[in-house]
Amino acid sequence: MASQGHHHGSAAFDFAEQAPRFRARADAETDRYRHLAATLAGPETRTAVDVGCGAASMAFALAETIPGLHVTAVDAEPAMLDLVQDRAAERGTPMTTALASVDDPAALAAAVDGPADLVWAGHVVHHAADPQAALGNLAALLAPGGRLAIGEGGTAPQFLPANLGTGRPGLELRLIEAGARRLAAELAEHGGTPLPYGWNLALEHAGLTEIRTLNELVAKPAPLEGPDLDHALAALETRVEWFDAFLTGEDRDTWARLLDRDGPDWLGRRRDLHHLAIDTVYTAVKPA
Ligand SMILES: C[S@@+](CC[C@H](N)C(=O)[O-])C[C@H]1O[C@@H](n2cnc3c(N)ncnc32)[C@H](O)[C@@H]1O
Repeated sequence: MASQGHHHGSAAFDFAEQAPRFRARADAETDRYRHLAATLAGPETRTAVDVGCGAASMAFALAETIPGLHVTAVDAEPAMLDLVQDRAAERGTPMTTALASVDDPAALAAAVDGPADLVWAGHVVHHAADPQAALGNLAALLAPGGRLAIGEGGTAPQFLPANLGTGRPGLELRLIEAGARRLAAELAEHGGTPLPYGWNLALEHAGLTEIRTLNELVAKPAPLEGPDLDHALAALETRVEWFDAFLTGEDRDTWARLLDRDGPDWLGRRRDLHHLAIDTVYTAVKPA
């Protein structure tokens, strides 16, 4: 259940609450998603689905670059679909939206009309109650010869030097580790279990073939400035908020000082923040 908030004592992520942050980030992602869309789809792609769409960066990239393509943006959160419709109006790009969970094969099938040539699911399958079953549900949406692409794996982004001169060194690695524990707790709450193997094997188990991996390096050197710095601060703020219950008291205090805009340790004044990440996309094909 995507909508239970951590403040209710649940480890599940509250995505509805995050809609304004998704909105703030979306326009900056346009070029990156257009590039990815061009890699995943071509003029022969007639129908596509973006599942767990969030602000629907992929759905808009596809709709705006491939003439005649019909794309449906699907999410389990009504707030995200409202956001997608707002963006559709702003961009002048009509977008079909549908409410469905990746855990619910019947709702997913009802959300799309007919088999899809391309199904994209960015950073959502790892939130499913049963990620392996979710991949099966996504594969079931494909036409024979159609392609499933998932944004999963890769590395968590890193922005900070290992030693900040305040707090215990390794603060950011411990934040990443806290995130992994929260995700494990979310899965346990769903009564699910994490995949005991990698995404390539999971796609194979879903009956797909031609499994490929695309790795995109994000490497912005220090110092970060302008929107890059804003993004780093927002990304860290979000993670600290999300993983709060999984941090030690000492690290929580350090983060509070680092993220306090009025305090002497505010990260926004530092000239040694960088952005390093690897975004991984797996693709696989449904046998004809
Ligand atoms: C981390 S965001 C990713 C958004 C976007 N796809 C991206 O890659 O930036 C996860 C999105 O999946 C949605 N979501 C979470 N659980 C879901 C589920 N079980 N079924 C469908 N969507 C879900 C959330 O509402 C949110 O919009």
